[in-house]
Amino acid sequence: MSLRQFIATRALLKTLSAIKNSILYSWEEAARILGLDEDLYTHPLHRELDRPVRVILIGAGNRGGIYADYATKSPREMRVVGVAEPNGARRRRIAAAHGIPPERCFTDWKQVFEGGPPWADAVIIATPDRLHTAPCLRALELGYDVLLEKPAAPTEAECRQILAAAQASGRIVGVCHVLRYTPYFRELKALIDGGMIGQVISVQHMEPIEHVHMSHSYVRGHWRKSEDTTPIILAKSCHDTDILRWLVGAPAAEVHCYGNLKWFKQANAPEGSTPRCTDGCKVEPECPYSALQIYYRDRKRLYVFDLPADASKWGPLILQGLQTTDYGRCVYRMDNDQPDHLTANILFSNGVTAGFSMEAFVSYEGRRTRIMGSMGDIVGDMESFTLTSFKDGKRRSWSMKTDAHGGGDHRMVKDWVQAVGQRNPALLSSPIEVSVESHLIAYAAEKSRVNRTIETVQM
Ligand SMILES: NC(=O)c1ccc[n+]([C@@H]2O[C@H](COP(=O)([O-])OP(=O)(O)OC[C@H]3O[C@@H](n4cnc5c(N)ncnc54)[C@H](O)[C@@H]3O)[C@@H](O)[C@H]2O)c1
Repeated sequence: MSLRQFIATRALLKTLSAIKNSILYSWEEAARILGLDEDLYTHPLHRELDRPVRVILIGAGNRGGIYADYATKSPREMRVVGVAEPNGARRRRIAAAHGIPPERCFTDWKQVFEGGPPWADAVIIATPDRLHTAPCLRALELGYDVLLEKPAAPTEAECRQILAAAQASGRIVGVCHVLRYTPYFRELKALIDGGMIGQVISVQHMEPIEHVHMSHSYVRGHWRKSEDTTPIILAKSCHDTDILRWLVGAPAAEVHCYGNLKWFKQANAPEGSTPRCTDGCKVEPECPYSALQIYYRDRKRLYVFDLPADASKWGPLILQGLQTTDYGRCVYRMDNDQPDHLTANILFSNGVTAGFSMEAFVSYEGRRTRIMGSMGDIVGDMESFTLTSFKDGKRRSWSMKTDAHGGGDHRMVKDWVQAVGQRNPALLSSPIEVSVESHLIAYAAEKSRVNRTIETVQM
């Protein structure tokens, strides 16, 4: 869709919404009624590429798999031509899905770069948090463009090092701040920038992790110890410091943060509980974090077990996983240290203040955001929002149902592929140059939390 068609379509949909006596269609519904492409959020600079961008996937876990899927969906834009992944099942799955020859399949990221000059256009780095900096620096040195998972790096020094290397090499480094690419946040940003609520005065933003998700990733899972990964404000919430910086439209000046681990610890282990849920735990039937319930009976979050395609074989394999991996351990008897609740206050250089809460103990997911402006306010939950104007008291609503990441994952990959294919970084909303700032807010917040200080943020 061209920019002109895009603007005309939106105007038409808005009229349609208004006519309906303020019973508003979602964009998605309206697009369906009008028989239009549902994806109204395509970047106006997108164009057909001369050839697909050739990428090497480094880290073929959960995120890497999602990004690689884009090549299956859009083979004219992206091809996965190599993979580096120590886990054999994951490596073979990607190789089979993308027809990668054995000589382009590796067990470690370093092997990708041993052959000397680049044999692809770009690399996607979706390795664990502590394994981003080294492959990114090496890729830039050899002349690859990069799509880098967030957090870009565990420390401020490494983050600045990546920025310097990207600038020196002139290569494109996109950071996976997927929220920026969601229709929901794009619409919010457009309304704010269009002055629909006057000047932004303050923001309240909450990230509800959801209690089982918390237990899976930050109590039992890879991200449970900040030393081994990154502090949770980076691992989970650098998306939020990023979205706040983006919506407010000014750099952060100061940050203050409180937060601690209050519930998921030994002192709260119920009487009768056992080291593993499969050890005959007496409270297992009523425990909200029962691994038997989550993984075995409800069959949720099973990607961590690398199960075969044939679901009839899963039962015994899941039970074996619960007896041998961290995912079967009692949530009160882990070696976790990530805070399960945290609040940060941010003062931006334009005087806007933002309050951010990261909460584990909630039954829902989906960021909640309230934006207070001089001429109106916005209240939203990532599926819908309502804008109320102080001028005429009118309320305007927007809604769209999408996947867990608000539909941002593949929209982000598309923008990055287009940026690489067209050699135009302007197509990317989250290049490293911008992303460093959001990371600096998170590093400062963690410093404040640990040292009980108010931290200055300096670019
Ligand atoms: N953008 C987002 O919204 C988002 C969401 C979740 C996670 N993440 C981030 O994405 C990254 C990956 O997370 P994930 O959930 O996919 O984790 P994961 O554990 O599923 O995947 C990481 C993969 O890297 C592989 N790996 C480890 N060492 C390697 C090496 N030396 N060479 C090559 N591969 C190696 C692992 O075997 C694993 O398969 C993390 O940094 C995480 O914080 C981002």
